[in-house]
Amino acid sequence: MHFNGIAFNASGPRDTEPEELKALADSRACAITTKTATIKPRKGNPKPRYYDDGDNSVNSMGLPNPGYEEMARRIKALKHYSDKPVFASFSGSPREAAAITSAFDEAGADVLELNLSCPNLGKGKTEAESWLEGLGAVEEATKKSLAAKLPCFLNACEQELFCGVLEQSRVKYLVAVNSPGGGLMLNQKNEIALKPLHGGYGGKGIKALALGNVFRYHEYFGNKKKIIGVGGVFSGRDAFEHLLVGASLVEIGTAYQIHGTGIFTRVENELKTELEKHGFKSAGEAIGKAIQL
Ligand code: SIN
Repeated sequence: MHFNGIAFNASGPRDTEPEELKALADSRACAITTKTATIKPRKGNPKPRYYDDGDNSVNSMGLPNPGYEEMARRIKALKHYSDKPVFASFSGSPREAAAITSAFDEAGADVLELNLSCPNLGKGKTEAESWLEGLGAVEEATKKSLAAKLPCFLNACEQELFCGVLEQSRVKYLVAVNSPGGGLMLNQKNEIALKPLHGGYGGKGIKALALGNVFRYHEYFGNKKKIIGVGGVFSGRDAFEHLLVGASLVEIGTAYQIHGTGIFTRVENELKTELEKHGFKSAGEAIGKAIQL
């Protein structure tokens, strides 16, 4: 699988409708993630369910999506239109996950991404055993590469416990991190910005937590797994920092929602300058090169 760059979209914003997927295909994004699909279509949570202040966001979307069968048709059309790698995101019980995996595999998805961490389904904080079960079901259903969208761990012990689970799986891409749940923002009128009150928190404010999670995965797995850093990427410098702590690709959520597909061009161009400034000949050379004091 070839990535023509390092930055692409995180599952969530602007990645459901055919025209949104086409816009990603036409952009500088080096791959395309499709919105997390579920076995049945979902309307999602009541609106307003997204808010940002230009730097940070909260969302309580609740996985609105047309269901996996329609999403499989969209993935198939996308693969006809574009040769970019497609990460097909989905969520569900082990049995549902297996059915969705088979359909997305058949539709031509390149990577099957199991969302283990949606903050708006009440399942964001899951048990190691349920991860094992879900991953096992997906592994049986496909031979294609697997990705896991991971929650934001706040302490090393908990993250290490789950590293043990991931080690037993053949998940290749660790997508870290999903937006931590329980966020709340106020709008300019002093109103709580979301109807369901709380939601996943994303944007510049979570970069440090994302870097912490990426660093620990890289420490644990070295080159055995590929880490996709997600959290607070608005610039080439942000992407560069994710590389330095161990990511080999980055996904962009809030900044893509706010700035549209131009964000991928900006990040790739700025990253090139950043790499040159610090004496790296390629993005690959910078992976895991953060200096420890
Ligand atoms: C959502 O609730 O739809 C967004 C969060 C996620 O994709 O995990």
